[in-house]
Amino acid sequence: MFISFEGIDFSGKSTQIDLLKDYLKSKGNKVEIIREPGGTEISEKVRTILLDKENSNMFWETEFLLFSASRAQLVREKIRPYLRDRIYVISDRFHDSSTAYQGFGRGIPIQVILNIHKLAIGDTIPDITFFIDIPIEVAQQRSRNKSSENLDRIERSEDEFYEKVRNGYLQLADTEKRFRIIDGMDDINVIHKNIINEIETFEQR
Ligand code: ADP
Ligand code: TYD
Repeated sequence: MFISFEGIDFSGKSTQIDLLKDYLKSKGNKVEIIREPGGTEISEKVRTILLDKENSNMFWETEFLLFSASRAQLVREKIRPYLRDRIYVISDRFHDSSTAYQGFGRGIPIQVILNIHKLAIGDTIPDITFFIDIPIEVAQQRSRNKSSENLDRIERSEDEFYEKVRNGYLQLADTEKRFRIIDGMDDINVIHKNIINEIETFEQR
């Protein structure tokens, strides 16, 4: 099974991925965690370029194509072989991040984004996508616990940008059957249980 986690920065994705990984492993499954952008030697190099605070003059189109390049490598080098070996793949962000951030957030036409996804990932699309939703103000509060020098290039973006990203995710959730909207304001353990329930329901179909 291929599971992706989406949401604005600080929504709680990494926290839930760690819990889900332990749960799936405790049931005797093999699990691989994928980090977007990154996850292969080549993709990690692309990640460094993308998040470098020095690259403040990067154009949105360059940004999107770099994310897609990183993902194209990851899909072929890691995700497809894992899925072939019946390993659970959990991805911390996947193509929907590009649709939400570069499409709805930055304003690159969605149809163009979807066409590039076709090339980059083909039919390697998650079975379930958990969109962990929190209000922007809460994300800000959580981000204040991280000192501002440690924020990466994209995490420094304005609130208005994050509103567009969040609304973009909500639109995607409306049209894509694989999306599950998770209330990120719930307690960490409540969210974890909701996620497990969704996965078990999916597997019993
Ligand atoms: P992301 O991977 O989406 O950026 P993290 O899992 O790193 O988010 O969580 C960001 C911060 O919010 C961390 O300090 C984490 O402990 C906290 N956090 C995560 N989930 C919750 C929750 N449900 N309620 C309150 N705080 C949370
Ligand atoms: P990262 O630190 O991996 O994310 P997180 O804050 O969730 O731990 O940083 C990735 C940043 O890149 C994050 O701000 C979201 C952004 N991003 C895009 O804009 N487009 C994409 O396609 C992906 C995968 C990430």
